[in-house]
Amino acid sequence: MGQLLQHFLLKCLLFLILSHFLTQCVSSMLRFCLDSERSALLRLKDSFILNQSASDDTLAYPKVSSWKLEGQVGGDCCSWDGVECDNNTGHVIGLDLSSSFLYGSINSNNSLFQLHHLRRLNLSDNNFNRSEIPSAIGNLTRLSRLHLSWSGFTGQIPYEVLQLSNLVILDLSRNPLELRNPSLKILSERLVNLKHLDLHKIFF
Ligand SMILES: *[C@@H]1O[C@H](CO)[C@@H](O)[C@H](O)[C@H]1NC(C)=O
Ligand SMILES: *[C@@H]1O[C@H](CO)[C@@H](O)[C@H](O)[C@H]1NC(C)=O
Ligand SMILES: *[C@@H]1O[C@H](CO)[C@@H](O)[C@H](O)[C@H]1NC(C)=O
Ligand SMILES: *[C@@H]1O[C@H](CO)[C@@H](O)[C@H](O)[C@H]1NC(C)=O
Ligand SMILES: *[C@@H]1O[C@H](CO)[C@@H](O)[C@H](O)[C@H]1NC(C)=O
Ligand SMILES: *[C@@H]1O[C@H](CO)[C@@H](O)[C@H](O)[C@H]1NC(C)=O
Repeated sequence: MGQLLQHFLLKCLLFLILSHFLTQCVSSMLRFCLDSERSALLRLKDSFILNQSASDDTLAYPKVSSWKLEGQVGGDCCSWDGVECDNNTGHVIGLDLSSSFLYGSINSNNSLFQLHHLRRLNLSDNNFNRSEIPSAIGNLTRLSRLHLSWSGFTGQIPYEVLQLSNLVILDLSRNPLELRNPSLKILSERLVNLKHLDLHKIFF
């Protein structure tokens, strides 16, 4: 009887150790970035050229230069400069490429807009070569902070920005942009969670 109990307890212990190990293993794997998002980041990197005159900040440097595939697993993009992942799901939730010497046009085809889990995006102080803000910005509906200041965007701010109802901070300042259609009135009515709106040097 005693031996049977001992045997049973030993099995329980083994089970506990094993399941603990498995949970650890699975959660550490999940912290790794997802293949589709790693590939979207690399295509984003390739869509621009690095040009020192694209950024003004004295502390600017090309963050994407260190983004590389490493070994057979492809590299953990969650550890790349400027990239922040959700610790539980592994999804890319933050991208800070401010002052990163990015130069070139951007449109709705850019793989940036496949990063649907983004909550924070900072592209300030680059030069997007007089592009319009791509309408696909409206697909990033989880965004709570969007910084696009001083980055060479032109034209009318797209209607799709109104889809970003989770925005708390919106900084579009210091670009030759227009906010006429949609107007400031509509913007402030739709983006009900906004706490900080910077439209310095924008045309109304
Ligand atoms: C770098 O950017 C500047 C404008 O900021 C542009 O005039 C120049 O042609 C660019 N250089 C290259 C190599 O693209
Ligand atoms: C994720 O984990 C890292 C390291 O453990 C920690 O520094 C970071 O704040 C965590 N991020 C989030 C969003 O919880
Ligand atoms: C910048 O825009 C001009 C005009 O649209 C275009 O011809 C040129 O290829 C663009 N340069 C880059 C690097 O995207
Ligand atoms: C986006 O890609 C599609 C298919 O490659 C192409 O037909 C379309 O013209 C592109 N759109 C822009 C704005 O470049
Ligand atoms: C953005 O959303 C539109 C409409 O839902 C969809 O047709 C398009 O494929 C999406 N684009 C991306 C890059 O996810
Ligand atoms: C975004 O970039 C701007 C300009 O570089 C900077 O002032 C701001 O602190 C950045 N915000 C975040 C959340 O990183």
